[in-house]
Amino acid sequence: MIKKKILVTGGAGFIGGNFVQYMVKKYPQYDIYNLDLLTYAGDLTKHHEIENLGNYFFIKADIADSVTINSLFEKEKFDYIVHFAAESHVDRSITDPEIFVKTNVLGTQVLLNAAKQIGIHKFVHVSTDEVYGELDFDPTTFFTEETPLQPNSPYSASKASSDLIVRAYYETYGLPINITRCSNNYGPYHFPEKLIPLTISRVLNDQKVPVYGNGKNIRDWLHVIDHCAAIDLVLHEGTIGEVYNVGGHNERTNLEVVKTIIETLGKSEDLIEFVEDRLGHDKRYAIDPTRMEKLGWKPTYTFETGIAQTIEWYLNNKEWWEQIISGAYQSYFERQYTLK
Ligand code: NAD
Ligand code: TYD
Repeated sequence: MIKKKILVTGGAGFIGGNFVQYMVKKYPQYDIYNLDLLTYAGDLTKHHEIENLGNYFFIKADIADSVTINSLFEKEKFDYIVHFAAESHVDRSITDPEIFVKTNVLGTQVLLNAAKQIGIHKFVHVSTDEVYGELDFDPTTFFTEETPLQPNSPYSASKASSDLIVRAYYETYGLPINITRCSNNYGPYHFPEKLIPLTISRVLNDQKVPVYGNGKNIRDWLHVIDHCAAIDLVLHEGTIGEVYNVGGHNERTNLEVVKTIIETLGKSEDLIEFVEDRLGHDKRYAIDPTRMEKLGWKPTYTFETGIAQTIEWYLNNKEWWEQIISGAYQSYFERQYTLK
C-alpha cells in the first residue's frame, strides 16, 4: 500500500504541534511530515512520544525560502498540505511587523507555488477570525464566512493577505484549497506569552498577571483538540474552494478568563494588574460556526471543561513551560511589560 504523504507546516508550534500528534496517532496509514523553521515559537521536545512511531518525519526549513521549498517538493510528492506555519503573536506584530509579512504572506505564496508545481489533492490554509477585524459588544453579532475582511493589526493584516493569495491560487490556477478561520485556541503546549498560558504560569509562580486596558475585550475560546478535529474534517470532507469558520460559542472577557484561572488555582485576585492597553486592541471576536456544523463538526469541550483540562495539563507539565519561560522569553517579557 502506498502511504499518503501529508505535509504539516508549523508542526513544532502550538496548534500545528497538537495537530501533528493527533494525525500521527489517528492515521498510521499516512506519513506525516512536519516542516518547521523552529523559531522562538517552535519546539520539538513535545513530540518525543511520536518520534519513533515510523509515520512521523521532521524537516527544518523556512517556508519563505523558495529554493529550499521547491527542491523539497521535487523530491517528496506530497498529497496534502496543512499550513499552520506563521508568525502568530499580535503583540510581536505591533513591535516588528516585517517578519509577519515575510513569513505569513511570502511564505504562504512560496508553498502555494510549490504545491501548484507538483499538483496536490488539497491545500488547507489555517487562518484566523482576526482577519474579519472586530465586532462590537452586541452579543447577537458574529463573524460569518461572508463578513468582509477588515484586519486591524499587522498580524491579522498579514493573515488576511495570505488568505487572499490562497484564494487567488484557487480562482486562477484551480489549486484545490480550503481556508479555515478559527477563534482563539487554548490547551496543551500553548506558548506562555499568550493570555491563558501566561496567566497560568504566572499565577502558579505568584507573579502579577498583566491585563490590557479594562479587561473587557472579548475572545471566543476554542480548545485546540476541537480545532484539530475540525481541520481533519475539512481536510477529508471540505468542499474545494470553501472557507470554514471554526469556533465554539465560548465568549469570555479577558478578565473573566483570568479570574477563572486564579480561582481554579486557589490564588488571590490581587495578582491582577491592569496595564496599558494594546495598540488598536480589537474589542470582540465571535464566530458563527454553522457551516462547520453542517459539515458534521461539533466541539467536545465547553470553556469550563477545557480550561480545567488545560490548567491540569500545565500543572502536570511544568518542565515543558519552565524551560520556555527561562532564557530569551525573559527578555521578551521585560521589553513588553513594566509590571509593578
Ligand atoms: P505558533 O506561533 O505557536 O507556531 C507557529 C510555528 O510556525 C512555530 O513552530 C514556528 O517555528 C513555525 N514557523 C514560523 N515561521 C516559520 C517559517 N518561516 N518557516 C517555517 N516554520 C515557521 O502558532 P499557533 O498558535 O500554533 O498558530 C498556528 C496557526 O494558526 C497560525 O497560522 C495562526 O495564524 C493560526 N491561528 C492561531 C490561533 C491561536 O489562537 N493560536 C487562532 C487562530 C489562528
Ligand atoms: P492573545 O493571547 O495575545 O491572543 P489574540 O491577541 O490573538 O486574541 O490575547 C488574548 C486577549 O488577551 C487579547 O484581548 C489581549 C489580552 N491580553 C492581555 O490582557 N494581557 C496579556 O498579557 C496578553 C498577552 C493578552
